[in-house]
Amino acid sequence: MTIQRVNSKWAKTLVLLKSDYLRQYIPLTKLFSRETVFQMLNEYGMIYVKPINGTFGKGVIRVERTIASNRSYKYQQGTDIHYYASFGDLYNMLLRQKKNRKYIVQKGIHLLRHQKRRFDIRVMVQKNLHGEWEATGIIGRLAHPAKIVTNYHSGGTPLPIDTLMSDHASSHELAIYKNRLQKLSITIASQLAAAYPNLKEIGVDIAIDHKLHPWILEVNTRPDLQIFRKLSDQNVFHKMYRYAIAYGRYKR
Ligand SMILES: Nc1ncnc2c1ncn2[C@@H]1O[C@H](COP(=O)(O)OP(=O)(O)O)[C@@H](O)[C@H]1O
Ligand SMILES: [Mg+2]
Repeated sequence: MTIQRVNSKWAKTLVLLKSDYLRQYIPLTKLFSRETVFQMLNEYGMIYVKPINGTFGKGVIRVERTIASNRSYKYQQGTDIHYYASFGDLYNMLLRQKKNRKYIVQKGIHLLRHQKRRFDIRVMVQKNLHGEWEATGIIGRLAHPAKIVTNYHSGGTPLPIDTLMSDHASSHELAIYKNRLQKLSITIASQLAAAYPNLKEIGVDIAIDHKLHPWILEVNTRPDLQIFRKLSDQNVFHKMYRYAIAYGRYKR
């Protein structure tokens, strides 16, 4: 039996939106068009524009509306920053980057910071040896100081969530909060598995805003296990690997 992989961020978002419960955790997401970029920028002031089939933070763009009249729009991709006076100029730049690829537009979440750098959370959920969904790992990812993505492959640093959240929650609050993120991620796995029955593992990217509201940025169906090796507790990675072997991701 093969493990189900789903690349399209758009298809996965549509499946999650079928759940009334999950909807509150999904930032508004639309297919890329001149209208959706314009409207969402006006509505939210900051948006992320992302390739539907992207990975590793590649091609991810952050756009902000600013108050400076001659620099009304701020564009950032990688460490590349541009300012535009008009929406038309900004939009032309987006089209040049997009080329013929499909993109989505998503409400931008102002991520929590640790030592001035943005971070988000990755939760790993796998089918365990009894065929039940189990949250097997949770880790934070601290963005490179000059970048707008947290991905390891884009210069982000995997760190324990306790380290990153220490400025934002007490250890008691954090224990409860981690539990909540794990339960949320298991619900996401069940919801996706209803549409994709051969799903065995997911890695959920979760943004946390200043009210500590969790936002589902994307769900990976081919999640990287290696980042969990960075945790001091090696049992976390070993269990993940054991489960992954059991459902056939790796050869025995
Ligand atoms: N809506 C958003 N608000 C804030 N940050 C975002 C948003 N979408 C993506 N990001 C940042 O960009 C990173 C990469 O985006 P993601 O959707 O996970 O695509 P990829 O498949 O390239 O990992 C995220 O981990 C997060 O740091
Ligand atoms: Mg991601």
